[in-house]
Amino acid sequence: MPETTTWTEKYRPVYFMDIKGQESAVEKIRDSLQKSEKGKKAIILHGPPGTGKTALAYVVANETKSEIFELNASDLRNKRKLQEILRPATEQKPLTKKRKIILIDEVDGISTDRGGITELLKLTESSSHLMIMTANDIWDKKFSELRKMTELISLKEIDYKAIKDLMIQILRKEKKFIENDVLTNITLKAHGDMRAAINDLQMATSLPDPSQILIDERNKELDIFSILRMIFKGKPTNAHLKIFNSINKPLDEIMLWIEENLPAEYSGEELVKAYELLGKVDIFKRRIYRQQYWRFLVYENAFLSYGIASSKTSGKTGFTNYKRPTRILKMWLNNRRTEKKKSIAKKYAQYAHIGVKRALKEFPTIERVFLKPGVQKELKLTQDEIEYLNKNN
Ligand SMILES: Nc1ncnc2c1ncn2[C@@H]1O[C@H](COP(=O)(O)OP(=O)(O)OP(=O)(O)O)[C@@H](O)[C@H]1O
Ligand SMILES: [Mg+2]
Repeated sequence: MPETTTWTEKYRPVYFMDIKGQESAVEKIRDSLQKSEKGKKAIILHGPPGTGKTALAYVVANETKSEIFELNASDLRNKRKLQEILRPATEQKPLTKKRKIILIDEVDGISTDRGGITELLKLTESSSHLMIMTANDIWDKKFSELRKMTELISLKEIDYKAIKDLMIQILRKEKKFIENDVLTNITLKAHGDMRAAINDLQMATSLPDPSQILIDERNKELDIFSILRMIFKGKPTNAHLKIFNSINKPLDEIMLWIEENLPAEYSGEELVKAYELLGKVDIFKRRIYRQQYWRFLVYENAFLSYGIASSKTSGKTGFTNYKRPTRILKMWLNNRRTEKKKSIAKKYAQYAHIGVKRALKEFPTIERVFLKPGVQKELKLTQDEIEYLNKNN
């Protein structure tokens, strides 16, 4: 029988001990719960994608026998929304259980105005229930007040061994087998993201040859590495203007790769020059997007490729071991993923006459339905959105 749930759902942590590789965060949050009477009113769980922030919030609710009231970014858009939705939630008694936890998932995604943030602070202060917020990045200036009044608990990229152990456990429960080196590679590829590892594992076990899961990714990385080599090592030529068309990555992402690897290639004044150029590309790009002068994207390509190559005069010629951009890239990819998910949910919400929030909540359970071409057509999904679904299922 085909699998109908995702393994990340099926193996969603229930107890503290199910949260792997986050010992210090778990310990901190347990401590904080014990003294929560006099402690801070809110906890922020922050860290890279797929490391267990949302999962941990739900575990806390379970372990403390609390019901959870979850808000998402669109509930937090402005002061009015906050007063409508968050205020009553912070004041009202729990409905079904003794305690209530208010979860503000992905608080860093909110695009609230000044009034919104102030209101959030006020409600955090006055709330009669524990508030847990999650975020990838909490260091934005607009959160400085919020940081002061909450307990910050950081979750880290999960270490290799913890990821591999959990994957082996899952394989055992599923009575499935995967060769050790494929497993090792999936684990490495996850770069500390447990969700990515579990998703890849589920995908791999459904393939006739599980090692296929690695091929696609490996090619992609080869691509980007050879492009970096061309940009950094080659003499600037017209061919540079075309290389970005040959790679299946958005330009924004390539920029992150270049930025990450500039210091490995350049030093001193050259490095400054290269960074300056990259900055110009960024400004240029924003202008293009704002004014929608799409055909100027060509020049952006030129800046990036030809420009960077020519900002180098002497420089390193030997082999450079390029790094993948880690944190920022992940945040960026994750944002893109969330965007796609949101845009699909929006279309579905319109179609089914339900709120976007509910559509997002139901997303994991109905996602598979969106794989049907008929449904895709009905919802008018774009190629990008379909690709997102295929990748995730
Ligand atoms: N530390 C962990 N231990 C066990 N399972 C984990 C852990 N982290 C993530 N997972 C698995 O990955 C899934 C997704 O994790 P979760 O939603 O908590 O990530 P997150 O940190 O909130 O990511 P994001 O920043 O994208 O919201 C969970 O349902 C669980 O199956
Ligand atoms: Mg989350």
